[in-house]
Amino acid sequence: METLTTISFSLNGKTVPVTADPRARLSHVLREEFRLTGTKVGCDAGDCGACTVLLNGKPVCSCLTAVGQVQDAEVQTIEGLAASSQTFDRLQKSFLEHGAAQCGICTPGMLVTATALLEERSDPTDSEIMDALGGVLCRCTGYRKIIRAVANANKARPAATAARRAVSVGQRIVRLDGQRKVLGQDIYGADQWPDDALVLRVIRSPHSHAEFSFGDLARFIEQHPGIHAVFTARDVPGKNCYGVHPRTADQPVFAERLTRFRGEAVAAVAGDASAIGALDVSTFPVSWRPLPSLDTPAAAQSPDAPLLHDHRPGNILVRGRVLHGDPETALNNAPVTVSAEFETGFIEHAYIEPEAGFARRVGDRIEIQSCTQSPYLTRKDIATILGIDESGVRIIPTAVGGGFGSKLDMSVQPFLAVAAWHLGRPVKMVYSRPESIRCTTKRHPSKIRCRAGATADGKLLAMDLDGEFNTGAYSSWGPTVAVRVPIHGSGPYKVPNYRALTRAVHTHIVPAGAFRGFGVPQSTIAQEQLYDMLAEKVGMDKLEFRILNALDDNSPTVTGQVLGSGVGIRACFESLLPRWNTAREEAAGFNESNTCKRRGVGAAGMWYGCGNTSLPNPSTIRIGLQRNGRIAIHMGAVDIGQGSFTVITQICADAVGVPVDRFDLLPADTDVSPDCGKTSASRQTFVSGNAAMLAGKKLREAILQMNGAWPEDSQIVLGDGKIQLDSHSTRRHSILSELPLDEHGYILTAEATYNPPTEPLDGNGQGIPYAVYGFGAHLAELEVDLELGTIKVLKLTAAHDVGRSINPTLIEGQIEGGAAQGLGMALMEEWIPGRGENLHDYLIPTFGDMPPVESILIESASPEGPFGAKGVGEQALIPTAPAILNALYDAAGVRIYKLPATPDRVRAAILAKQQAAEGKSHG
Ligand code: FES
Ligand code: FES
Repeated sequence: METLTTISFSLNGKTVPVTADPRARLSHVLREEFRLTGTKVGCDAGDCGACTVLLNGKPVCSCLTAVGQVQDAEVQTIEGLAASSQTFDRLQKSFLEHGAAQCGICTPGMLVTATALLEERSDPTDSEIMDALGGVLCRCTGYRKIIRAVANANKARPAATAARRAVSVGQRIVRLDGQRKVLGQDIYGADQWPDDALVLRVIRSPHSHAEFSFGDLARFIEQHPGIHAVFTARDVPGKNCYGVHPRTADQPVFAERLTRFRGEAVAAVAGDASAIGALDVSTFPVSWRPLPSLDTPAAAQSPDAPLLHDHRPGNILVRGRVLHGDPETALNNAPVTVSAEFETGFIEHAYIEPEAGFARRVGDRIEIQSCTQSPYLTRKDIATILGIDESGVRIIPTAVGGGFGSKLDMSVQPFLAVAAWHLGRPVKMVYSRPESIRCTTKRHPSKIRCRAGATADGKLLAMDLDGEFNTGAYSSWGPTVAVRVPIHGSGPYKVPNYRALTRAVHTHIVPAGAFRGFGVPQSTIAQEQLYDMLAEKVGMDKLEFRILNALDDNSPTVTGQVLGSGVGIRACFESLLPRWNTAREEAAGFNESNTCKRRGVGAAGMWYGCGNTSLPNPSTIRIGLQRNGRIAIHMGAVDIGQGSFTVITQICADAVGVPVDRFDLLPADTDVSPDCGKTSASRQTFVSGNAAMLAGKKLREAILQMNGAWPEDSQIVLGDGKIQLDSHSTRRHSILSELPLDEHGYILTAEATYNPPTEPLDGNGQGIPYAVYGFGAHLAELEVDLELGTIKVLKLTAAHDVGRSINPTLIEGQIEGGAAQGLGMALMEEWIPGRGENLHDYLIPTFGDMPPVESILIESASPEGPFGAKGVGEQALIPTAPAILNALYDAAGVRIYKLPATPDRVRAAILAKQQAAEGKSHG
């Protein structure tokens, strides 16, 4: 029973009363009552630190602090610190300059905690920073830039003025959306809602597979004051089915009679916030009849297994295939061969922002404001669900507090749309952390069997790969994974004979979907370890083996594509050589004097095609010259923290020939901005960047024409309300405020579309799947405790061929963040269905887990990329895990075939090796 009390405390320097249940979470009161949404909520359980505020000057998790505890106390949130603290001011500037905020959802918690530290110690050591901030999780940055930002906050630095430079490509320009993030002002999915919004809660299946039927729903509503409505499949006005691939769309908004995974939605309840907060879902009138579930691909493919979807025989969603040369014969005749099987589990995206948003009906249209990576796909699916034209749907993406692929799929949006459509009243919804983990997509678990052969002197002859992916109950991005993996399974090497067969298999588990790399990280773990085994068997240095076999400009890939130029993988490997040699000497020296601990060094390479596989994926950018002398850029691309807003604007600025700070960024809104596609597949820099470059060139041309065909090499200078053209000591001024406006409201508008030139693959997967590939190679150094099985990664060196480094700070951020996720994949992350639905059981890397990362940027310009640039977002994660696993083998002589390499698995492998050695010596 709720008892309301009036509590008085100092909030950001001002005494405030609030009437609330004293047991209410302080985080909730700050956000809901005071609308101080700079305090973020990632878990409501004390695990993530996003909700950190200062209580009497000390950092506390406001989600674990009852508001009754702050009576007469002093509470400071990021908003208060931003308004009053000089320490905070220096810190937030340092965060911007160091690129320490990516998606920004953890940033308020980091800044608040670090402010308290710097108030106590003005010049903390790295380890003091890591200790102080250790309770705040970040899924994007890999932590190292945060450490540097805090360490340097109180040190004099040159002011960051790069945004005013005439040439911006290649500059470390501070991210254009950074200011809002470091001041706690960015609006994420849960941060804004209309005052009259009802709250929506979904009723979900507690069983992996079950039949169900509803009781008396009208009576349930009657018995619960404050509950306004219940929605089920019968209330879906259009088609109760959606999915990212039109041909495999299969997921219902609400299940009908049968659920196929634990957590599947069957109904949604809309009501007042207090009624929904107090709702005991066990009183909801639904009866379940649990059915046997198919929990593994093996069970799902057994001959007598029932089908999850009648039209998919064998429970196979889709198969992928690439065949090049004659791998069978080549492997049979190869002087040296190796084979192995590698397994990976489900991996949770674990972004700090749970899914959230609100919807409202406006006449015969629906508007949804939510976090998403794919506003235009969402618009299409919502139109289908509501049975209306796409023009009747408006999607307004908020800032995204981490996505990594999962926010490509819809989450809250269909429920919000159906409820708001019927109620004619706004409805909001925020997933709890357990709900987010239970019901949203995961990285596909994989089982990959592979075999490779080489000549006696180490030239790769052939590879054969068989990949099985657990795709869960519905298709999501399963088709993309099954198709992308065979193309990439050879790695960035010359493999003249190759076969890769893959399949995505349905099971009664939450759908697996997109996660940074679309299956390529899993296949690279297999292939890069296999090549290490092959190099060892041949007797070659493992890095030299990779250099020998690396693709070059004129060697055909396994799909028969010849890139012609811009293949930088060899340069990536060669750039690692100095550190490789030194690190191996250092490890050997260490190992000579240690028996319980061993050090090792490992390397791995990767390649990754940017954009959709052999499918159109155009982006359109529109820019307009305004009367105030500034350029508006309509950015339909969603920046999920990787920095696309900034990078695309830099490209556009150089194409026009003006500094970045003359641009006004107009973020995505499907009513206003042209379609830039989804933020995935490392495509925004390449695809939207190209559209921005073309639009910029068009605008430049139009400006020169408007002024009487001025020479192409003229300098354009935009000032307040005026424009100046300089050419060979001739100058011309125009006053912009007097010029007429076009239909877009600009003096001049330029719009351009770019679609990567790819070609369909034939039945053997031969063709041109991607116009641009990114390449990379990582080197891992680590230490293994042979008694405990624990691994400490000491250093990562990451070389990436980015074509052209548009913004080195942002690229380094992607590399460090990707490496952190790769480290997590190698050593600690595995989601077990039905367990680990919080951030204390599902572990992601923290400050203490991440070693220093040295980034090496290689610029083998792509002829197709804007200024030669390639994507790097997904590339950064791919080689880390295999490099770590190869280093583990180098250190301890054991391979872990089933990830993650947790201490128990490592210790078991070490023991097995010791026992085998003892058995041999006794035998
Ligand atoms: S929201 Fe409080 S610690 Fe995560
Ligand atoms: S920047 Fe830290 S979670 Fe995204």
